Amino acid sequence: MAELIFNTCLNYLVLALGIFMLLSESPSPANAAPVQYNVVSLGAKADGKTDSSKAFLSAWTSACGSTSAATIYVPQGRFLVQSASFNGQCNNSAITVHIDGTLIAPSDYNVNGNAGSWIVFRHVTGVSVMGGILDGQGTDLWACKNSSKSCPTGATSLLISNSQNILVSGLTSLNSQMFHIVINGCQNVKMQGMKVSAPGNSPNTDGIHIGASTGFTILNSKIGTGDDCISIGPSSNNLWIENIACGPGHGISIGSLGKTQQEDGVQNVTVKTVTFTGTQNGVRIKSWARPSTSFARNILFQNAIMNNVQNPIIIDQNYCLNSGCPSQASGVRVNDVTYQDIHGTSATAVAVKFDCSAKYPCTGIRMQDVKLTYRSQVPSASCAHAQGTASGVVQPSSCL
Ligand SMILES: *[C@@H]1O[C@H](CO)[C@@H](O)[C@H](O)[C@H]1NC(C)=O
Ligand SMILES: *[C@@H]1O[C@H](CO)[C@@H](O)[C@H](O)[C@H]1NC(C)=O
Ligand SMILES: *[C@@H]1O[C@H](CO)[C@@H](O)[C@H](O)[C@H]1NC(C)=O
Repeated sequence: MAELIFNTCLNYLVLALGIFMLLSESPSPANAAPVQYNVVSLGAKADGKTDSSKAFLSAWTSACGSTSAATIYVPQGRFLVQSASFNGQCNNSAITVHIDGTLIAPSDYNVNGNAGSWIVFRHVTGVSVMGGILDGQGTDLWACKNSSKSCPTGATSLLISNSQNILVSGLTSLNSQMFHIVINGCQNVKMQGMKVSAPGNSPNTDGIHIGASTGFTILNSKIGTGDDCISIGPSSNNLWIENIACGPGHGISIGSLGKTQQEDGVQNVTVKTVTFTGTQNGVRIKSWARPSTSFARNILFQNAIMNNVQNPIIIDQNYCLNSGCPSQASGVRVNDVTYQDIHGTSATAVAVKFDCSAKYPCTGIRMQDVKLTYRSQVPSASCAHAQGTASGVVQPSSCL
C-alpha cells in the first residue's frame, strides 16, 4: 500500500516535471542545449573569392527555425558574401552569430551598389553578433563618385531593421560603400567595442546611423569615417552614447531633422565621454530651414574633449548640403540641451555656434564648464535666436 502511494506520487511528480519542462522549454529556448551551425560545414569557402552567401543563408534558416538557442559560427578566414539578408520572424529569440573571420563584399560596386544594403537583419528578436570584420570594399565606388561618372548610391554594410533586443559586440566595419551601420525601426539595441573605419575623404561613409528607434546604447567604440561618426535621425529616443573616440569625420550629430513637414523628433539623448580628433564638428544638432513638426529636446552632451575640431559646439538650423537650399525659418523646436564639461581646441575662430530658428528660438540651452581655445587664444561664440544659461567657467563667454 505504502509502495503504491509512493509510486502514484512519483508518477504525479514525473508528470508534473514533464509538464514543467514542456512549458519551460518553449518559448524559453535557453533551457535547451544550444545548437551550432558552422558556415564552413554548410559550404562556405574561406578563400576570399567564392561567394559564400548560400552557406550563410542556410545557417540562418536553420538557426531561425530552431526552437532552442542557436549559434551561427564563422571561423577565421576571408569569406566573400555577395549579399545576406537574415530575416525573421524566427521561432528563436536567442541567436548568436559568432564571427572569427572577415566577411568581404564584392569589390565590383555594380553587384550591390544599388541594393541599399549588404548584410541585413530584419524583423528579428534576440540576436547577438559577436566579433568579426565586415569589409565593404568601398574604395572603387568612392573613386567613381569623385569622378564625374554616374555611379550607384552604394550599399550600407550592416542594416538592422525593425528588430528588438539586439547586441553587437566587438564588430569591426571597414570601408563601407555608403553608411557603415544603420539601425532603423528598432527597440533595445546595444553596441559595444565597435571599430568603424574609412578614410576621412570617403563620401557618405557615416559610422552609425540610428533612425526611428527607441533604446539604443553604444559604449567603448572607435569610429573614424568620411561623414558623421554617429548620426541620429527623426523619431528616435532614449539613446546613450558613451566612451567614443570620433575622428576623422563630421562628429556626432542629431539630425538632420525637419527635412519633411510631418516628422517626429529626437528626445532623451546622452552623449558622454567622447574624444573628437580633427573632426569637422564636435557635438551638433542640425535641421533644415523649412516648416516641420519635428523637435530635438532633452539632450545632454557631457564630458567631451575637442582636439582641433572645426565646430566643437554647433546648432545649425539652416542646414543644407548643396544647392537648392530652403531658406525659411526651421520648424524644428530645439529645447533643453545641456553642454557640460567640454574642453579642448577649436580649429576655427568661432568655437560655439547656435544658429537657431527665428520662428522657434532654441530654449533651455545650458552651458556649464566649457573651455575651448583657438591657437592658444580665446575663440568666439555666435548666437542667433538662442536662449539659455551659463554657469561655471565658460570660454568663449556665453552669447546666450
Ligand atoms: C517555426 O516552427 C514551426 C513549427 O515547427 C514551423 O512550421 C515553422 O516553419 C518554423 N518557422 C521558421 C521561421 O522556421
Ligand atoms: C576626391 O577628390 C578630391 C579633390 O580632388 C580629393 O581631395 C579627395 O581626396 C578625393 N577623394 C577620394 C575618396 O578619392
Ligand atoms: C532616457 O533614456 C535612458 C536610456 O538612455 C533611459 O534609461 C531613461 O529611462 C530614459 N528616460 C525617460 C524619461 O524615458
